[in-house]
Amino acid sequence: MASEPTASECVIHGIRELWTGSEVLGDAAVHLVGGRVAWVGRSSSAPSAPSSYDAAGAIGMPGLVDPHTHTTFAGSRARDFERRIAGESYTAILEAGGGIHSTVAATRAASEDELVALTRARLAAMLARGVTTVEIKSGYGLTAEDEAKMLRAARRAAGPTDVVTTFLGAHARPPGADDYVDRVVTEQLARCAPLADGIDVYCDRGAFTLAEAERVLRAGKALGLDLRIHAEQVAYTGAAAMAASLGALSADHLERLDAAGIAAMAAAGTVAVLLPGAMLYLRDPSPPVAALRAAGVPMAIGTDFNPGSSPVTDLWTCATLACLLMGLTVHEALAGITVHAARALGRPDRGWLGPGALGDLALFDPPPGEPAEVRVLVQYLGGHRARAVWKGGRRVI
Ligand code: NIG
Ligand code: FE
Repeated sequence: MASEPTASECVIHGIRELWTGSEVLGDAAVHLVGGRVAWVGRSSSAPSAPSSYDAAGAIGMPGLVDPHTHTTFAGSRARDFERRIAGESYTAILEAGGGIHSTVAATRAASEDELVALTRARLAAMLARGVTTVEIKSGYGLTAEDEAKMLRAARRAAGPTDVVTTFLGAHARPPGADDYVDRVVTEQLARCAPLADGIDVYCDRGAFTLAEAERVLRAGKALGLDLRIHAEQVAYTGAAAMAASLGALSADHLERLDAAGIAAMAAAGTVAVLLPGAMLYLRDPSPPVAALRAAGVPMAIGTDFNPGSSPVTDLWTCATLACLLMGLTVHEALAGITVHAARALGRPDRGWLGPGALGDLALFDPPPGEPAEVRVLVQYLGGHRARAVWKGGRRVI
């Protein structure tokens, strides 16, 4: 008899198509026990459990993972958007004290409670799309106190969504702060390391140099933080190869990545995090996806959600854009928002469905008139609201 699912044990059956992280399974069921997946297989051979949920032909996905966001911020950048579509460049606006600097001013002015409320509202919109794990960076504080405030707010906003925090003090140089990198690696890092899972640097023209980025990442690594980097986005710097050589989990953006960077990433197992929202908004060229594929570099997809270069919270939209703008296949896009995104965050327990995986699962109905096939969710451009979501085995939508 059908009953309300509980956190302890539940069988979800009647899933028309299920993306497991590596393949599409037809007529599937998932057995959740104690917050984890105990079994995945055909509905007809599903074990019985004290509670069950009839998916009634829905499409099933592991909880989606967004591996790169700047979700915790205050203020608006609508004026920047108008300047950019009128022809001004992102870097010119940044170097003139606008761009990231205007978000820094608004974020410093906001209280921690205000940042928690904004972050929660944004995470709720993501969860409604089936996204159950979100990486969030600091980087709009740029003082030890303001960076720590952002990271605390991001962590407080977690639940039911899992939040992975990244310290990004080296996001922009406050005007006139010549010793800024010294402050990032001393007082900011000391204050922020206990609040962060990882560390990131924006290595680019108008941001931080390769040598500065290496210094910041080495300091974070010494404290046990996971390494990531904003690399080869606006200008080529060699950042991806440098970060890979330090064992970075991911190198992100990569629009100007070269062969040496690809080889270094392949050798180190560094995930390429592709951010088609920023590519579209900044009208950048595509990262070298064919070469990444040929080299066997795993590709993940993030929203890069931020108010400037990627005001996008919908990871499904980014999966579709990765196919259209960058040339990913549908299966690569599905892996990019699940299993490879989890790997980019150093969370191999999620982004896939099989025995031992975290009990994070989302069910979707296809658009009206479409078959209940996983690929349809990539074909249609975003807006897919999950019918039901489980996080750690517990039904949250
Ligand atoms: O990933 N490129 C640097 N950081 C962000 C943009 C942040 C902003 O414009 O506020 C990015 O694109
Ligand atoms: Fe970013």
